[in-house]
Amino acid sequence: MDAVGWGIVGYGWVARDYMAPGIRAAGHRLVAVCDPDPLSRAAAERAGARSHSDLAGLLAEPEVESVYVATPNHLHRGAVEALAAAGKAILCEKPMAATLDDADAIVRAVGDRKIFYGTAFDQRHHPAHRAIRAQVEAGRLGTVTTVRIVYACWLGRDWSEAGQPNWRIDAAQAGGGALMDLAPHGLDLVDFLLGEPIADLAALTQTRAQDYSVDDGALLIGRTAGGALASLHVAYNCPDALPRRRLEIVGTKGMLVAENTMGQTAGGTLLFIDGVTGRSEPQAFDADTSPFAEQVRAFGSALRRPEERTAWSAPRDLHTMRLVARAYGQG
Ligand SMILES: NC(=O)c1ccc[n+]([C@@H]2O[C@H](COP(=O)([O-])OP(=O)(O)OC[C@H]3O[C@@H](n4cnc5c(N)ncnc54)[C@H](O)[C@@H]3O)[C@@H](O)[C@H]2O)c1
Repeated sequence: MDAVGWGIVGYGWVARDYMAPGIRAAGHRLVAVCDPDPLSRAAAERAGARSHSDLAGLLAEPEVESVYVATPNHLHRGAVEALAAAGKAILCEKPMAATLDDADAIVRAVGDRKIFYGTAFDQRHHPAHRAIRAQVEAGRLGTVTTVRIVYACWLGRDWSEAGQPNWRIDAAQAGGGALMDLAPHGLDLVDFLLGEPIADLAALTQTRAQDYSVDDGALLIGRTAGGALASLHVAYNCPDALPRRRLEIVGTKGMLVAENTMGQTAGGTLLFIDGVTGRSEPQAFDADTSPFAEQVRAFGSALRRPEERTAWSAPRDLHTMRLVARAYGQG
């Protein structure tokens, strides 16, 4: 496949540390970025990209075919609307937007112009999670009854990975706290692993250990239309040295346990436990390839082959945003 020319709106932590390496690993090209922050632009130039202080400069780059949006959440909508008007393919970071109204506007903007759009749910592309989905589809777990996910970290008031202000603790920019930031991954992953979304949902949040006002933890429970249950524990108040990234999927014939696969990096472990013997068996998967590299490959492939675009769906991602809103008691 010929290399896709990428642009990036918002060259902060995730763009610099995960997306740009993912673009390189997939054999694509990072052409240009836009970011109002001179330090972020300098980082992009060091990565070989041209840099612009505003979106108009990026849009004027003819080699940019696909654009990855990685600004703080409240700026996703404006970027996506402008990119859609310019006819670019768009991969927008999660959560889709800071509010349900903005997410709805995104779906309309890309739908009206028939833009190839995806929300960057990179966990769908982690090789361990793909292996789990394949085993579920092949029936190895029997009837799947439950998915249990823990996805937590420590996010203090001054947290920053790229020298940026901590917009995550500002409800106006982030749209919420740990639930808004971390739960979309798990909600989407349940849909990916089981082939059906969560339909019913209840949740409780806490503001317990951190000194800011957005939620620093949440527990969510959900059920798919087919009757599978899911639980998600997400948190900003879990010390990073504790076990805090775990995915279990339980069925009538056995279960799979993935540790340290949730997240941006390659690797982690995957174990099958047999429901009759109780014996554990490590499962092999590609532990060297990051979910970001795989996500770039899959998006680029679908850009070139429209028949693959069914794997990406803005209305499906809007459903995930509705679940998040319901978890906050807004839906
Ligand atoms: N999928 C994942 O695992 C993952 C991980 C981290 C972050 N994210 C998401 O990525 C997005 C960015 O998060 P981050 O941690 O990289 O944030 P960050 O604060 O490190 O970076 C954000 C960047 O956006 C820039 N920016 C601000 N206003 C802008 C504008 N108007 N136009 C262009 N750029 C602008 C900032 O200058 C900064 O460089 C968020 O939506 C977040 O939820 C996803």
